[in-house]
Parts: sequence; structure tokens; C-alpha cells
Amino acid sequence: MNINKIKEDFPIFENKKDLIYFDSACMSLKPKQVVDKTNEYYYEYSGCVGRSMHSLGEEATSNVEEARKKLSKFFGAKKDKEIIFTRNTTEGINLVANSLNIKGGVVITGDKEHNSNLLPWIRLKDDGEIDYKIAESNEDNSFSIENFEKLIHEGNVRLVSITHSANLDGMSAPLKEITKIAHDAGAKVLVDAAQSAPHTELNVKKMDVDFLACSGHKMLGPSGIGMLYGKEEELNNLNTFLLGGETVTDSRYDSYDLEGIPHKFEAGLQNYSGMIGFGAATDYLKKIGMNNIHSHEIKLNKMLTEGLKSFPINMIGNTDPEKRGGVLSFYSEKVDPHEIALMLNSHNIMVRSGAFCVHSWFNKHNLPGAVRFSSYLYNSEEDCKKVIDFFNDNLKGLL
Ligand code: ALA
Repeated sequence: MNINKIKEDFPIFENKKDLIYFDSACMSLKPKQVVDKTNEYYYEYSGCVGRSMHSLGEEATSNVEEARKKLSKFFGAKKDKEIIFTRNTTEGINLVANSLNIKGGVVITGDKEHNSNLLPWIRLKDDGEIDYKIAESNEDNSFSIENFEKLIHEGNVRLVSITHSANLDGMSAPLKEITKIAHDAGAKVLVDAAQSAPHTELNVKKMDVDFLACSGHKMLGPSGIGMLYGKEEELNNLNTFLLGGETVTDSRYDSYDLEGIPHKFEAGLQNYSGMIGFGAATDYLKKIGMNNIHSHEIKLNKMLTEGLKSFPINMIGNTDPEKRGGVLSFYSEKVDPHEIALMLNSHNIMVRSGAFCVHSWFNKHNLPGAVRFSSYLYNSEEDCKKVIDFFNDNLKGLL
């Protein structure tokens, strides 16, 4: 991968010359190919999708459906209509939580879930709709198949909703194994792929998952757009959550005829430019190659891990960077994570600090938070060197 060439595609590096950006697990930067395609909607065909007969409407509709096709190919879906546009991963998970028939059953998640894959289940549990169980991780924060199987064998599991790669430490759960065990027990599987879809090749058919949610903004796409994949039969059976324009084929004063998938889930006017930009983001990622991106991130993480290992910091998750993708999170016994992030920021090094919306994990471990480096295809070895230099110059003796 030619990182300098890749950087030229990202206008932000032209506008912020010294930017060293290590916060892609929160928000990725955008290449001009995505920005241009997103803006194309507003400049060239900013009509209503799926409604208007005029040519602006038709051009907008064909671009949105083209974007759906791109996503469907990118994730290996059987049919384009298995892709529903949402605002983000959170909305995809909430749609399943509110619409899948899980009443009276058990939902299982892991213990490193982002709030998006925790709060919906706590609420359903509090409302008396479901029983909610959490599979505790192994000592090194990896997914424990043993603990998971124990919960599965307690019975009545309707849904396993699991984060693929954790935003806390970058570690990935063995999805194929989890899915097989869940399916053998008659449970459906929902995957939170917010942190894996940007970095790894995913094929929903091969993984055999029932639902998969992800966000465009973490994978070079615009903000405020995401998708939920669902197997055709699952989506056909899934209730709608929002109803309104475009979700029906006909209505009367006392009844309506629901549209088919995916449109029955896309109520009201939507973020069309975002959908189109999301499609363009998958083109860009495909051009670079997901395997190349993954190996590049591991290489950078090895550099960072090696460079920081002499500091008295506690890295979260497995010490082997190969197991953490592009993520290195750590906490110091002495210095507050936000303070470290602000010091880094004063050298134009941008990281995330705090609880990363995984408060539950930090509370359980009685920790105030952490500092997280998360890399992507535009990070270079030079960026890592600057981080290591920063630690040597500014944090020696302090941590
Ligand atoms: N925004 C969340 C994070 O930064 C997902 O990890």
C-alpha cells in the first residue's frame, strides 16, 4: 500500500498539514471520491427517491439502488434487498431489538458491548420482555466459547447479539463458531460489525449470520448513514418499527398494505446523498483491498505496541497486536486518560479517551477509562514513529 498516495485522496491532510489521526474507530476520514459522490446528489439530481416520475427522481432512485447493490456485493449478500439503509449501527440493532419476535426468550451478548448493543437489551429486560444474559470474556479479554456455551445450554435463547470486533480493544469474536452454536440451539444471530466492517472482509453468506449492522462513517462513508443486513426470510418476518411514506403500497382509513423488503423498513424521506456516498466508500475500500488494509493496520499496531512496551502502561486486551487489529487501548495508574489525550492533541496526535461508550466494562473493572489509538489505511509508519517519539519526549517518568 502506498500510504502517501492514499493520503493524497484525503483532502483533510491538505487542509490540516500536521494531522496525525488515530481516532478512526470513532470516525473515519473521507476520501475525495466519497465526498464528490456524496455531493453529486446535491449538485446533479437532488430529487425524491422511489416516488417521483420525473428524471431527477429517477436518477436519484437509480443511484440509491446502485449503492444498495454495491453494499450487497461488498458484504456478500444473496440479494440486494437484504440491505436496509439505517442511520448507523445503533439504529440497525434497535430495529432488530424492537421488531424481532424474541418476547419471552433469552438474549445473549458478550461483556464488551458498546452501549448500542447493551442498552436495548437492558430496556427489554426491564420491561419484562426478555431475559438478558452476558457471556463473560476470558482473562485476556477474548471471547469465551465455554462461557457462551454454558449460557446457551441454559436454554430458551432466541437471539445472540454480538460485537464482531470490540471498539474497546480491537479483539474479534469467533463469529463462525458462535453462529453455529447459536443456530444449533435455535437462536438467531445479530452481529454488530461497526468495528470490523471497515477493516476486514466480511461475507454474510459464508458467516451465515441472520443480521449484521454497521455504520458508513467508520468505513470512509458519510456520517449519519448505516445499514442492516438481514437474510431475506428474516427480514420478511421482521416487523416494521417506523411506518410512513414508502413503507406501504396502499392505505385506506382503516388499513394499509405493507411494501416488501427493503422499503418497508425505510420510512420517510431518507439520507440519499449518504447512501450514495456509502456505496462510493465500498468502491474505494475494494480498490485498496480489505486484506491489504488489515495487514497494514497490524503492521502499525506492532510498531506502536513495541514502541510503547517499555512504558508502565496497561494495555487492554491481548498483548499480541495481531489479535487487536488496528487498536491499542491503554490506561495509566497515574495519569487521567483525557489528560494524556489532550497532551497528544497539543502535538496534533488525535486519539480517543474515556470509556468509548463501553462504560459497563470500565465500571466492572473499576477503571476510569483509557486512551485508544485506532489506525486505518491512511496512517503511516511515520505517524507511529511520531507517537513513540512523543511518549519518549513527554511521558517518561510521568505515567
Ligand atoms: N464512537 C465509538 C468509539 O469511538 C463507537 O468507539
